[in-house]
Amino acid sequence: MSTIVLFTSKRGSTEKYAKWIAEELNCEAVAFSKDKLKELNDYDTVVYGGWVRGGGIVGLDIIRKNFKKLEGKKLIVFAVGLSLDNKDNYLQLRELNFKSPLNLVPLYVCTGTFDPEKVKGGEKLIIGVLKKIIGSNNKDVKKGSNCNSENDMIKSLSEGVDLTDRKYITPIIDAVKGN
Ligand SMILES: Cc1cc2nc3c(=O)[nH]c(=O)nc-3n(C[C@H](O)[C@H](O)[C@H](O)COP(=O)(O)O)c2cc1C
Repeated sequence: MSTIVLFTSKRGSTEKYAKWIAEELNCEAVAFSKDKLKELNDYDTVVYGGWVRGGGIVGLDIIRKNFKKLEGKKLIVFAVGLSLDNKDNYLQLRELNFKSPLNLVPLYVCTGTFDPEKVKGGEKLIIGVLKKIIGSNNKDVKKGSNCNSENDMIKSLSEGVDLTDRKYITPIIDAVKGN
């Protein structure tokens, strides 16, 4: 069985997870581009990791539109963002990113890093909008539901955070190995 890990990472945390996964599976981790989809003949399993921007898993749309090139292969996706790996976040990511033909593709969520000092221009606007959306969701949620993780996320976006942890790769490794 031969596996490749492809990733799209802007500031390194998705790349870090991709390299951890590749190390564990004894395979290569390679930065993703559309052209890479033409070079996958030798692999029967493709693990794709993309960072989360405004709810979208960056790069996954290219894979969705070129899904035929992955015919017959096992595809596993992981997303790296700041939202915690709770059920609501998982369902939201699935709803936004896993339209046909990706409906049955497994998704794993890993928490990343964020440094507000490194965010410039248009990205600042996205972060501002994100904070507003999270803040207004927070007012609506019932006590005891998702409130804490939403507060945590606003704090992380304002102050910066490193939530990367190797423990998040365990279910991904199990999924590749078919456990
Ligand atoms: C412009 C921008 C938008 C973001 N949007 C989200 C988001 O919608 N949800 C989320 O959980 N994290 C969001 N994040 C946080 C990133 O997903 C997080 O910093 C991730 O670790 C970045 O991965 P990278 O280090 O591989 O580039 C956003 C970050 C930026 C800069």
